[in-house]
Amino acid sequence: MIILILSILILLNIFLLYLLNRKKIKKLFFKSKINKVDISELHKIFQTEKISLNLYSPKKETIIKSFCIPPNSQIPGLTSEYEAWILASLSKVSKNIFEFGTCSGKTTLLLALNSSENSKIFSITLKPDQAKNIVKKKDDNKISYRNILNESIYDKFFFSGSDVEKKIKVIFQNSLEFEEMQYLNQFDLIFIDGGHTYSVIKNDSEKSFKMLNSNGIILWHDYVPGKESAKNVVKYIHEISINKKIFI
Ligand SMILES: C[S@@+](CC[C@H](N)C(=O)[O-])C[C@H]1O[C@@H](n2cnc3c(N)ncnc32)[C@H](O)[C@@H]1O
Repeated sequence: MIILILSILILLNIFLLYLLNRKKIKKLFFKSKINKVDISELHKIFQTEKISLNLYSPKKETIIKSFCIPPNSQIPGLTSEYEAWILASLSKVSKNIFEFGTCSGKTTLLLALNSSENSKIFSITLKPDQAKNIVKKKDDNKISYRNILNESIYDKFFFSGSDVEKKIKVIFQNSLEFEEMQYLNQFDLIFIDGGHTYSVIKNDSEKSFKMLNSNGIILWHDYVPGKESAKNVVKYIHEISINKKIFI
């Protein structure tokens, strides 16, 4: 009898541990369906040059202008340093750039600081009063929907009043209503970082496929399996990875 009770208690403990750590456990066993590549395979600017046996130098296109946002600034939706470096480096070899989701304009400013003088950057975003009109659809993740409201809080940006502002055109519009046909095959670089709900990520991606030129690159932000607010991004990327060349 004691052995039976002990066995039940052990099983209950294991089950409880699983419940408490199920996200970590899932992540441990998660195998992405997307091809993983080294950044140097994405674009030749990321290939390094050998200086000596144990020292490799970056190409000049990946030496970027950047700035730092203090960690206590409470700005939502920021990219990591590594992501920002990839975007800034690619902007150096891109003339026409489109960003879905401006937020504070951190990435927009980086793109403007690093792209050539005659580059043009479009960034679409929502003003606070426009975000209220976004409707949650059946397939949309609740947290991603809430984040749209939390991140649509700016109508002035890091680049407002700067020397590079002239390169940037902000479009204050719901991307679901945005007419992409005027921009067919135009962009060298598109960054998809607007609403992370299924309906918005699908809309922004499908419009991007039409707006991208034949040598262009699309970067999606927040492909993070296991992260609740990124669930719809992961779902959509997995769906399209069957027919598209996608890398992580
Ligand atoms: C994650 S933040 C963007 C962060 C920014 N790309 C950066 O790197 O700093 C998301 C932005 O997408 C915008 N957004 C969300 N849903 C949108 C929609 N349906 N149409 C246009 N903009 C949208 C929000 O207003 C917010 O500015």
